Amino acid sequence: MKALLCKEFAAVDNLTWEDVPDPSPQDGEVIIEIKAAALNFPDNLIVQGLYQFKPPLPFSPGSEGAGTISAVGKNVTDYKVGDRVSFMSGWGAFCEKIAVNKKQVIKMPDTITFELAAATQMAYGTSYHALIQRGNLTENNEILILGASGGVGLAALDIAKAFNARVVAGVSSEEKAVVCRNYGADDVVIYGTEKLDKEGQKALSDQFKEKSKKGGYDIIYDPIGDCYAEPALRTINWKGRYLVIGFAAGEIPRIPLNLALLKGCAIVGVFWGSFTSHEPQQNVKNIIEIGKLIAIGKINPFISKSIPMKSAKDAIKMIGERKIVGKVVLFID
Ligand SMILES: NC(=O)c1ccc[n+]([C@@H]2O[C@H](COP(=O)([O-])OP(=O)(O)OC[C@H]3O[C@@H](n4cnc5c(N)ncnc54)[C@H](OP(=O)(O)O)[C@@H]3O)[C@@H](O)[C@H]2O)c1
Repeated sequence: MKALLCKEFAAVDNLTWEDVPDPSPQDGEVIIEIKAAALNFPDNLIVQGLYQFKPPLPFSPGSEGAGTISAVGKNVTDYKVGDRVSFMSGWGAFCEKIAVNKKQVIKMPDTITFELAAATQMAYGTSYHALIQRGNLTENNEILILGASGGVGLAALDIAKAFNARVVAGVSSEEKAVVCRNYGADDVVIYGTEKLDKEGQKALSDQFKEKSKKGGYDIIYDPIGDCYAEPALRTINWKGRYLVIGFAAGEIPRIPLNLALLKGCAIVGVFWGSFTSHEPQQNVKNIIEIGKLIAIGKINPFISKSIPMKSAKDAIKMIGERKIVGKVVLFID
């Protein structure tokens, strides 16, 4: 089979698309013939050795996908050859076949395409868990979403609108603002791509505040961190929930804790990967709810680009160039 291979932790350009031996199933594993895999922010970090997990070399990047089961190992009774499934793998998804433990696999409804299944699970799984279980989203909430046109950001916007919340989207460019308005954002703040100094942060905070109808946000969804986090937190409503999703803009911000005291707010960590292993049953319930919302047209995951898997390297480069909008999916042609 073919696979995108990372042979050393180095620049994305060093990745190669080449022949490797087919995997065979160990006890409790299934082999999935991959039809589609989704691009995620860590794919760019993991191949450069900059991510929290460093897989043994050589490895394929890619943390989620969908396909059909082509073989099952010992002690696998709930899946059979031919089943359509999606999977989470951490890494290893940018190739033609993968061996994964049965616990990492979910059966797909017949109505959903492989591309949609691959694109939905992490982005929507994260944002649904964040907003519902961690953010206690209700319909009269007002929400500020940073990085709102990216994978998890646009999913958060889509879900928040499905619950009739008012959403202000934060993005770096007018082009990304258009995407968010088309997805139902009630208002948009464009913060640019330059790092903000103290004065720039104060100005951004004022902009966020001006756009709030309630004088502060009930929920702030933050997948970017860095110089954007504190200006956002300063605009949170009394008893608001600040959801810490990630640090796509680079730095992990250091927040003055007195802000939490003054605002009576909660700064809430969200780690979807850990949630799926700590609370697998709740995760399955969430995935079922997301499937229902898609089926009735309440949410509509945005696949902005479908790219052949052999060009996965070019797709990964787009992450570092801040060019991802919605979800980018890689398919086996
Ligand atoms: N906590 C969890 O369980 C969980 C789950 C999934 C993802 N995440 C994290 O959430 C973050 C976003 O993931 P994603 O998959 O949505 O990524 P993505 O699709 O690539 O989107 C990243 C967003 O971050 C913004 N951004 C700001 N500075 C950036 C920079 N220097 N380079 C690239 N993008 C930058 C971009 O929007 P603008 O240009 O508009 O700012 C972009 O929309 C990542 O940090 C990821 O690790 C966390």
